[in-house]
Amino acid sequence: MARILFLCLGNICRSPTAEAVLRHMADAAGLDLTVDSCGTGNWHAGEPPDRRAIAAAAQRGYDLTALRARQLAAEDFSRFDLILAMDRSNLRGAEERRPARATAELLLFGSLLDAERPGAKSMDVPDPWYSGDFDGALDLIEDGCRALIRRLSQPAQ
Ligand code: 4NP
Repeated sequence: MARILFLCLGNICRSPTAEAVLRHMADAAGLDLTVDSCGTGNWHAGEPPDRRAIAAAAQRGYDLTALRARQLAAEDFSRFDLILAMDRSNLRGAEERRPARATAELLLFGSLLDAERPGAKSMDVPDPWYSGDFDGALDLIEDGCRALIRRLSQPAQ
């Protein structure tokens, strides 16, 4: 069973969306995954996702309403097998906080898109909190999660 943690800045837009999308896809695929999300920042700790993120996700059948924001903690680096950062800035933030004894693998979420989108070059998922482009973020998140499900469904080499 794999334990996956999504990481963004506020944990109210991109990473909770990815959490709900991956959980939904894992259920559909019959994969037993532990899925969670958090932010490098703590400004929104305890809050539900942004209402625009909730609305855009609901349009595609994902329910974000029960999720609450929390900040990345040192224990996350041993509680999870894989931490996926939604952009390079948060990947750097996680690298800086990574304890010496960390066991989790740390990856840019966009690296999952390379197989899906030729020329994607491990892109960042742009922050919709500023741009308002929640559908664009959802497109990238669905593609990346689909690639992750495929990777996790393959028998171990
Ligand atoms: P997220 O978006 O990292 O995708 O959750 C943001 C949400 C809030 C803020 C920044 C990004 N903020 O600065 O409060």
